[in-house]
Amino acid sequence: MTFFEPPNENLRSDGSANDEEITPSKYVTDQVELHLEDAFQGLSRLETNSIDLAIVDPPYGASSTASWAYESKERLAGFGGDWKLTQESWDLITQHESFEGTIRWLQELKRVVRATGSIWIHSTYHNSGFVNVACQLLNVEIINEVVWFKRNAFPNLACRRLTASHETILWAHTGGKKREYLFNYDEAKRATFVGDKLKEADKQLRTVWDISNNKTKEELFFGSHPTQKPLRLTDRLLLIAGKPGGTLLVPFVGSGTELVSGVRYGMNVVGFENKEEFFDLAKRRLENELARAPSLFN
Ligand SMILES: C[S@@+](CC[C@H](N)C(=O)[O-])C[C@H]1O[C@@H](n2cnc3c(N)ncnc32)[C@H](O)[C@@H]1O
Repeated sequence: MTFFEPPNENLRSDGSANDEEITPSKYVTDQVELHLEDAFQGLSRLETNSIDLAIVDPPYGASSTASWAYESKERLAGFGGDWKLTQESWDLITQHESFEGTIRWLQELKRVVRATGSIWIHSTYHNSGFVNVACQLLNVEIINEVVWFKRNAFPNLACRRLTASHETILWAHTGGKKREYLFNYDEAKRATFVGDKLKEADKQLRTVWDISNNKTKEELFFGSHPTQKPLRLTDRLLLIAGKPGGTLLVPFVGSGTELVSGVRYGMNVVGFENKEEFFDLAKRRLENELARAPSLFN
């Protein structure tokens, strides 16, 4: 599959020099296009109406050695200013950058995702407000807000807060009032999921999902990512809105979990990751997946 040619110049999407100096690289097969590249730059060159499903797991600006001090120069009306800091360099974004970035990637997704397609967006309380507002500002209709209940969430060590044990996943579409987005309703209704005590077979799938955040040995075989999603979660996103033979877009690839699910589901997949270490990890996982038994849908 060749979706587009990578850029020759090592520039950010706004045209400024990229101080991390990514040397563009790519891994391309019949089914996969994985780019070591800035997502904003890559998204801008995707064709309009070319994507059937997008899964966005953006930097949340969440992990912290946190100073919640606000920088006045970055203050956004109504949002109080900046928050951060983080232990992960890729997550080191200010509140201003988080909101601005959300608007930018959502604008691009609105352009590239077909009216018959849809978008899954991961968030925590650090960025969920931004994502919700961005959807409303850009007229991207939220279909559902899913609560991913992480039964095995890590206890709160400081004992100053409740134990955070969920993430929010928005399901949205770009098709306006016609609501042509694909929903594999029967498959979702029929399904049961190992370990999910809330889903009964032949009952409609609800918006609270009981999914452990544990990763299997196989999922960690080639290495791990600090915010790696479990395949049992991403497989479910595909089951609900995936389209065998269609194209899945993952703008922020990380370890490649969503791309692996997409390949398994028989979709063509395209993704961007700007850290070489994670690009390599995702590539190894995809190579392994493609070498396994052929997809059920191929
Ligand atoms: C939340 S993680 C995704 C984790 C992924 N869902 C998984 O299961 O491994 C976000 C990833 O986006 C990457 N990233 C952040 N900003 C980016 C950008 N502008 N372009 C491309 N990748 C970016 C980070 O390096 C990080 O690996």
